[in-house]
Amino acid sequence: MKKALLLIPIMAVAIAGCITGPTPIPDPDSAAAQLYVAKCSACHSLPHPKRNSYREWQHLLVLMQQRMAERGMPAWTREERDTLLGYLQRHAR
Ligand code: HEC
Repeated sequence: MKKALLLIPIMAVAIAGCITGPTPIPDPDSAAAQLYVAKCSACHSLPHPKRNSYREWQHLLVLMQQRMAERGMPAWTREERDTLLGYLQRHAR
């Protein structure tokens, strides 16, 4: 009986997390992941790194930089671009 009662709050938290929480991305506390969230959720919801292979990401980042330029958004620095690419390389499909 005691065990069953304990499970209720755990399940409630798990279910609430599914409904309200953002899709968890890998290594969320790293600086790279935080940069990824900051730079890649400005125009659309954050895509999961597993969505594409690294090769596809390389291509997509070029496209995203064009989209940013079209909207007059400042380009990433070289360092930021390398951090984003490195993050995607580690966690790509
Ligand atoms: C300036 C706005 C903007 C920013 C910032 C941006 N995107 Fe996009 N993204 C777009 C637009 C617009 C599309 C729709 C497809 C297109 O027009 O190319 C898109 C589409 C996508 C797609 C779907 C492409 C497909 O056809 O499969 C992915 C994945 C994506 N973006 C990833 C990213 C990532 C990763 C970042 C950060 C590095 C990022 N985006 C930052 C504007 C942006």
